Order: sequence, then C-alpha cells, then structure tokens
Amino acid sequence: MNCQVLVLKTRSMNKKNVKSFSKALLAWYDRHRRDLPWRAKPGEAIDPYKVWLSEIMLQQTTVAAVVPYFTKFVRLWPSVDRLASAARDDVLAEWAGLGYYSRARNLHKCAGEVMALHQGEFPSTEEALLKLPGIGPYTAAAIAAIAFARPANVVDGNVERVMARFFAIETPMPTAKAEIKKTAGELVPVTRNGDYAQALMDLGATICTPKSPKCMLCPIAELCAAHNAGQSERYPVKAPKKDKPTRFGTAYLAVKPDGSVLLRQRPDQGLLGAMMEVPSSDWIERSERQENDRPCPPFKAPWQALDGTVRHTFTHFHLELAVQYAQVKKEPKSQIFSGIWVAPEDLGTQALPTVMKKIIRLGAEQDVVEAEV
Ligand code: ADE
Repeated sequence: MNCQVLVLKTRSMNKKNVKSFSKALLAWYDRHRRDLPWRAKPGEAIDPYKVWLSEIMLQQTTVAAVVPYFTKFVRLWPSVDRLASAARDDVLAEWAGLGYYSRARNLHKCAGEVMALHQGEFPSTEEALLKLPGIGPYTAAAIAAIAFARPANVVDGNVERVMARFFAIETPMPTAKAEIKKTAGELVPVTRNGDYAQALMDLGATICTPKSPKCMLCPIAELCAAHNAGQSERYPVKAPKKDKPTRFGTAYLAVKPDGSVLLRQRPDQGLLGAMMEVPSSDWIERSERQENDRPCPPFKAPWQALDGTVRHTFTHFHLELAVQYAQVKKEPKSQIFSGIWVAPEDLGTQALPTVMKKIIRLGAEQDVVEAEV
C-alpha cells in the first residue's frame, strides 16, 4: 500500500510516516527558514520574551504587518521588566494600527504578572502559560514549543491548511478544527519542537499557500493526500461564508484653528477598549434604528457634514461613518463631554486606531469653510 492510500484510509500515521514527515520538513526548514526578527539564529540563545511578544502580535495579523511593530517594541522595551514598568498608555500608543487592541492591554498586564508572579521568567509549560493574560491555547503551545522546546501541538491558520490538505480532511471549516488539531498532534516529533512548529508555519506561509500552492517545492508533497489526489486547492473545505452586517454612525470631528483635534478615551472594556477616539454616535445596523433617533453631537457647534464616508471593517462587522466637522474657537460648554485637544504633530503619540485616523484624514483632506463658535 502506498503512503497516499495509507493516509487517506486511516487518516492516522504510523511511526515510520510520522518520522519521515518531520524529517523532510525539518530538512527543508534548515535550508529555507524565514529570517524573522524574533527568531533566534541557529546556535543563538532563544529569548522567551521575544517569542511571547511576537506570538501576541502575530495573533490575527500578518508577519509583514508585525515586523516593524516588533522591532520598535523591542527597541523601546527590550525585556519583560521594561515593558511591565512602561505606562500602559504608551504601550497602547505604540500598538495603534495593529488592531485587536485588547491584545495590547493584555500584553501590558501579562508583563506585570510575569514580573509579580514568576520573578520575571516566563513559565515553560502550556498549563502555566495559559493562566497569563492574553495567552490562549494556541499561543501557550507556540511559546512552549518555540521558547522551551516542549512537544506542544501548535496549530494556527497556516498549519490548519497544511494539515487539512495533508490528510484531505473533508469536514468543512471551522467544524474541522478539532479534527485537524487531533491529527496534527499525531505528527508532533520528540525533538526540535520549536523548529518543527516554525517549519510548519513557514511551509503554510510560503509553500502551502491558500491559492496556487507550490506543491512542486513542497518537502512533504509525496505524503500529502490532497496533492496526490491532484486537489490541493480544494482543501480546507470551506463552509459558505456568512455576510458581515454593516453598522452606521456619525463621527464628530472638532478642530481648533491651530489644527488640534478633540479626542476622548474609549471605555476599558469592549471594542477598541481604552484607545483614543473621535467622538461619535453609537454604531448600529439599519434595522436597529429608531424613528426618533436624532443626531447626538458631543456639544453645540456649527457642525457641517463632510463629503465622503469613512469605511472600516472589523472582525464581525463593516462600519460606515458619516463625519460632521466643526471649527471650534472656544472651549465647548458641556458637562457631559470630556476630552483632550491633540495637536497634529502629537497625533502620532496617541493610541489612535486606524478607523480614527481615517476620520481625521477625511477632515484634513477637505477645505472646510470656517464658522465662528
Ligand atoms: N505566525 C505565528 N507565529 C509565528 C512565528 N513564530 N513565525 C512565523 N509566523 C508565525
């Protein structure tokens, strides 16, 4: 029986195949590994702080987007104790643009806990890592394998794709996740666990890509069920996508003659928690609108509608914002409103999410006729 039939029939690997899988993969990794700033070079000591920081940043984000952020963070805060003693708002400000801002809040909290509860050393087991803020099962496994060479089963989106193809898993995603995790677990080798985990990630990112996988260059193509059936791109099988809803709102961009913009801090919990924002109405779907909904500017001013719409997509919804603009000469009178005026040259120091930058950019792009306030 050849390997293909064996894999397809039993979807579980015998010891010999498990060994050939990791051997071929690791030999490929030794020649083609990506040079990434958080990776120890061969023979270099592994820094668990860098592994942890990169894994938190890489959650839901691409390697290309993370590299400049990672480099800057390590320059500003080269160790976990330096990060723990940084002001949280500084950490949030440096994170701005990377998205999923609860990660930045948890990053800072986690650094504090590593200092307070673990004497500044990251714990090495998945179980202990899982107790730290912002570390879920995937991240705990990745840190345990990469920083501490534990035989953890590290399965991210790239690895899921590799496994779904390798075993030609017919169950659609995301239902297939548990099955994929289980079968991936059978392949985990007993040595070079960090390299093995990163080799799978690199294979998924560079060879076993979502579109046009480069099977000709793949070190495990011979053992891959999907490739052997000539159907690599059919896997992972996808369930039909649900449409994301669109929410609508109005942002109120108040600007002083010197260009300062009025910002306020969002509540700690929830979407974009503790980040800075241009004040806005609630963001709601059309179906949630009430007949008596009225515009709700943060204070009285000659608000004028800007041309254009700010569009942004979050994980669970699209957002469309109309923008109202006011040139403000005096401090607005409002007991309910609190905020800070931020000069244009200081906007870069603020924890401003991308959607808020888009609002400010829309204002800056338009010649708005001044009105006295
Ligand atoms: N994606 C998640 N973790 C990664 C890592 N350590 N290297 C490359 N890509 C990754």
